[in-house]
Amino acid sequence: MTILGIETSCDETAAAVIEGEGTKLNLLSNVIASSLELHTKTGGIIPEQAAREQVKYMLPVLKQAVKEANTTLDAIDAFAVTYGPGLIGSLLVGVETAKTLAYTLNKPIVPVNHMVGHLYANFIDNDSIEFPALGLVVSGGHTDLLLIKGHGDLQLLGGTRDDAAGECYDKCARLLGYNYPGGPKISKLAEKGNSDAFDFPRPMLGSHDYEFSFSGLKTAFLNQTKKLFPVLRNAHAHEKIGWQEIVMENDLSEKEKQLVYDLCASLQKAIITVLVRKTLRAAQQYDVSSIMISGGVAADILLRETFQKTLQEKKLPIKFSVPPKYLCTDNAAMIASAAYFNFKPVPWSEITADPELYF
Ligand code: KG4
Ligand code: ZN
Repeated sequence: MTILGIETSCDETAAAVIEGEGTKLNLLSNVIASSLELHTKTGGIIPEQAAREQVKYMLPVLKQAVKEANTTLDAIDAFAVTYGPGLIGSLLVGVETAKTLAYTLNKPIVPVNHMVGHLYANFIDNDSIEFPALGLVVSGGHTDLLLIKGHGDLQLLGGTRDDAAGECYDKCARLLGYNYPGGPKISKLAEKGNSDAFDFPRPMLGSHDYEFSFSGLKTAFLNQTKKLFPVLRNAHAHEKIGWQEIVMENDLSEKEKQLVYDLCASLQKAIITVLVRKTLRAAQQYDVSSIMISGGVAADILLRETFQKTLQEKKLPIKFSVPPKYLCTDNAAMIASAAYFNFKPVPWSEITADPELYF
């Protein structure tokens, strides 16, 4: 069965074709157009502008995905589309495009939850995941831990009470003058830093649940950074000054630069410690066979390595799965994958975009 997936929940316009047989899923094409550069210029995502960009890219991206898969729209067996959560204007572009395709070609259509989609990136070109499994979705908007007993049998164990892990990275990076996405920038700066230099809090590490919280950590990073760099305090009062110039290029001695690296490494360690320890605790409590992680933050090399290393050290017989980097961030292949393994078509007229959708 071939499924064409469409994903337009935020600033990426994506279409992909997958081919599934039994538990095997092959990726035939995966096309993504991003309007990130535009939003970087405006200093953040303006929802209406993001929606307009979706309209601009949707059909060319769709055409390219079909072409790269070496197929035709007529030969596609079913369509899959993200219907939430996300920005309403952006979501509508994908939803209405997919509905039009399903209606005109008289093919089934499967609506997919974006967060569930992230988890299913793990099943692309990988049929080794065993249930029960634990899923950690770490993105810009979510930090959620799920128990998955089988396809379609998901139980939310806990989620973030405030900022998501990715949001924490993004906001801390912003303080240092870096635009969205902040996660990769913090990781890069952290490579040269000492992760034990600053003792940042490990929020909710000791709580007896699977909830997360990252806003206190963000505040600790903010306070420490401003204390170390009085120039940042002054600059804060003058919003027009570019943070990046101040921190990385303007008058920073080697010693001061090292402080920035250390701050980033310490922040990264705090986030990774909480994510890995809480996930492993849940894995043991629920006696799972596999752990899968996904979402933009799962692209971080150190997070992946820490999961692998800790599982080995603890000699836990649990399989660890993480998609390749390009399938961790938003894409349409994961949407098609979720639809393949949870094939529940809905009449096209009943599908509506739901920006607030949860699990
Ligand atoms: O899944 P995603 O592309 O979009 C959402 O659904 O939110 O995730 C975006 C988030 C951003 O917060 C970004 O800073 C973070 O993922 N991110 C990373 C990396 N790449 C993206 N965080 C840490 N390390 C990375 N390499
Ligand atoms: Zn996402």
